Amino acid sequence: MVVVRGATTIAADDKDEIKYATAELLKQISSCNGLIKDEIVSIVFSSTSDIHSYYPAKAAREAGYEGCSLFSTMEPEIEGGLRLCIRVMVFVEKNIVPRHIYLRGAKILRKDLTSVFNVAIDGPAGSGKSTVAKLLAKDYNILHLDTGAMYRACALKALESGVDINDEAAIVDLMRNVKLDIQYIDGVQHTLLDGEDVSERIREPHVSMAASTVSKHPSVRMHMAEKQREIAHKMSCVLDGRDIGTFVLPDADFKFYLTATPDVRAKRRYDELLAKGHKVDFEELKKEIVCRDEQDINRKIAPLKLAEDATLVDTSDMTIEEVVAFLKRKMQEKI
Ligand code: DC
Repeated sequence: MVVVRGATTIAADDKDEIKYATAELLKQISSCNGLIKDEIVSIVFSSTSDIHSYYPAKAAREAGYEGCSLFSTMEPEIEGGLRLCIRVMVFVEKNIVPRHIYLRGAKILRKDLTSVFNVAIDGPAGSGKSTVAKLLAKDYNILHLDTGAMYRACALKALESGVDINDEAAIVDLMRNVKLDIQYIDGVQHTLLDGEDVSERIREPHVSMAASTVSKHPSVRMHMAEKQREIAHKMSCVLDGRDIGTFVLPDADFKFYLTATPDVRAKRRYDELLAKGHKVDFEELKKEIVCRDEQDINRKIAPLKLAEDATLVDTSDMTIEEVVAFLKRKMQEKI
């Protein structure tokens, strides 16, 4: 039996607030842990003593958690503790490494019961970081956050709305009016723009360079970095990007910088795009990658660079499996 923990807060002791917050918390716990309702044996809630209007257990029942036993208890007072807080323990009949979920400012009280750790993988396009991050996250049963997808989604929105990608104010305005969501379905990241799944479309070649351009704007970066930190502080994850070890999470537990020669990187992207049915010219693609490197390395805020305490890995002559094994060995050495 595995226990997944979580907590959330509500704005007021109100029945509808409790129903909404409880359903949201259980939904996140299920999706981040890849759970189906049948795998949940029991759910125990404990609420702070200022919550009276409704029982979270009842809310869970109404949200469709019917096949498991549900309990609501009251939490003892903790000096300086959060007010209007609902905590939960979800008992699961599945062999998983639990991802504990803390929403709306709720905090982990017992650090000994959880071990949030972050792995930062930075590097240029085609260095293999995304594939490696995905495999590593799967191995450790933790989340993979592909931060490039967020800049790509922003670029896609700008391109489709006819907004100039060089116009920082217009891009920020656009981002304010669009809902960018990252969801995990069976452990796989999906990027949603206003509820529409754009995970495939953001990979189209014309979006890549535009993503690099929108990522130059300081206010766009601050916005994205904030979102990434919010996720990383809540749960263990492998994050891949350009500035994770240097800017987003300078305190990341493990830091890697993957690279490879431009030829190798272009060939990887070429094969990848070809397999997806995109017609691309190899030389064009290589030019685009080199140009993107230039732009990512030379931008003023949080440029692509090797963090002082990151391990540099040249993957030019390595298979993906070799890279993953190397990273795991390095992590093991550090533990
Ligand atoms: O990793 P990728 O190819 O999906 O990233 C697309 C672009 O987004 C990349 O050229 C630069 C930008 N990016 C960034 O500036 N910072 C990140 N953490 C991730 C991506």
